[in-house]
Amino acid sequence: MDQLLIALDVPTGAQALALADSLRDVAGGFKIGHRLFTTEGPDFVRTLARSRDRVFLDLKFHDIPNTVATAVAAATSLGAWMINVHAAGGLSMMQAARDAARETAAAERREPPLVVAVTVLTSLNAAMLAETGVRGTVVDQVMRLAELAQTAGLDGVVASPQETALLRQRCGPDFVIVTPGIRGGGAQTAGKDDQERTMGPAEAIAAGASYLVVGRPIIAAPNARKAAEDIAAGVRGSGLGVRGSDS
Ligand code: C5P
Repeated sequence: MDQLLIALDVPTGAQALALADSLRDVAGGFKIGHRLFTTEGPDFVRTLARSRDRVFLDLKFHDIPNTVATAVAAATSLGAWMINVHAAGGLSMMQAARDAARETAAAERREPPLVVAVTVLTSLNAAMLAETGVRGTVVDQVMRLAELAQTAGLDGVVASPQETALLRQRCGPDFVIVTPGIRGGGAQTAGKDDQERTMGPAEAIAAGASYLVVGRPIIAAPNARKAAEDIAAGVRGSGLGVRGSDS
């Protein structure tokens, strides 16, 4: 399923490659996060990109604009298909990220990666947000940050499926909405793990998600391939997996 991005949150490159090989035709792409990038480094990104996999490099850059711009340029050169930054880094940081991706891609004659902004982590609820000094509801904070990301010219945001319908309405049909926090409805784990604001895969697509990021419900399942197929079948069965080339 073109919209299913599988988080390769495993300890070693060998395990991640084995997972990618077994899931390639069910997945729309693979997400490389902090753990795998820290253990395996940029070569692992190059390896998947060379296999023509769409790589979402989930390093959530959040620093001063110049530092983020140079990191985004480096990620673009690696062949990442999607890169993210924290919207809380502010407008000029996001603009610097956008410009770096476009300029690097143009100089290297490659497609620019999608640059999306994390709004509020799906592991946070209102009480946790208040502990960080952010007053008001989670939804208000997500909308504020999404509008800032759109003003900066980013391609979209990462947000929980619970905010997706409102984001789609506010930010329009072309804004990319990436939703982790997928649980239930075929994406089973024993509980929610550390995710707070969750939803099932078909419902998240129905709410307007462009891409689902799914980790543990697939990679920790006894049969990862069957888990991924069940999620794809659930979305297809709902008649909503319509973007791109579904497999
Ligand atoms: O295992 P699970 O399905 O919860 O994995 C979700 C993945 O999405 C993890 O790799 C996590 O780092 C990532 N993510 C998230 N919430 C965000 C951004 C990324 O859960 N806001």
